[in-house]
Amino acid sequence: MVGNLFITFEGPEGAGKTSVLKSIVERLQRENMEVLATREPGGIEIAEKIREIILNPAYTAMDARTEALLYAAARSQHFYEKVQPALEEGQHVLCDRFIDSSLVYQGMGRNLGIEAVRRINEFAIGTRMPDKTILFDLEPSIGLARIAANRTNEINRLDNEELAFHEKVREGYLQLAKEEPERIIIIDASQPLDQVIEATWGILKELLKEK
Ligand code: TMP
Repeated sequence: MVGNLFITFEGPEGAGKTSVLKSIVERLQRENMEVLATREPGGIEIAEKIREIILNPAYTAMDARTEALLYAAARSQHFYEKVQPALEEGQHVLCDRFIDSSLVYQGMGRNLGIEAVRRINEFAIGTRMPDKTILFDLEPSIGLARIAANRTNEINRLDNEELAFHEKVREGYLQLAKEEPERIIIIDASQPLDQVIEATWGILKELLKEK
């Protein structure tokens, strides 16, 4: 195996993973460790455009299958245009969300089924899975309350879903973590943000040190 890692950050809404990722990248830079940080849906122009469509709160008519296909389309473009070339160049890649988000949000939350969503994603990106995934686990009611209290920028179409949807998402993540304990590492995201950052830093330092 080449000496670089593809690591994804996952979790329900309001778990703080985006803030954690930002802080971790700054720390890695201070330690002169080169990583590529990116996000889904988005990360490159075409996928950011798809993101605008998927998350637009006005598009309440969007069918669940359309939603799943658009996430897969954004993922495919982002993966082949940005993630894969970076990995091939020997960079570590840290990605805010990836296929697990589709498995749980569309597969479980939208009831399309994890296997159906896995299949369309196999068409989109093949069978490449992250080397490690950090799951920021949080009770959805806490996450949604955090969003309502703190977020001034983007309130997206999925944030507006009912609590029951987000509970299915969380259950989906915990189920995946049980099925793949080697890949998915759970962090308790109900802790204060600085503690979540420290816990993540501890895990990443070990992972990257091994390389
Ligand atoms: P973000 O708020 O973490 O940037 O993610 C955008 C939203 O998109 C969030 O509500 C989770 C959702 N999402 C899916 O439903 N399926 C996916 O495959 C991805 C990548 C995100």
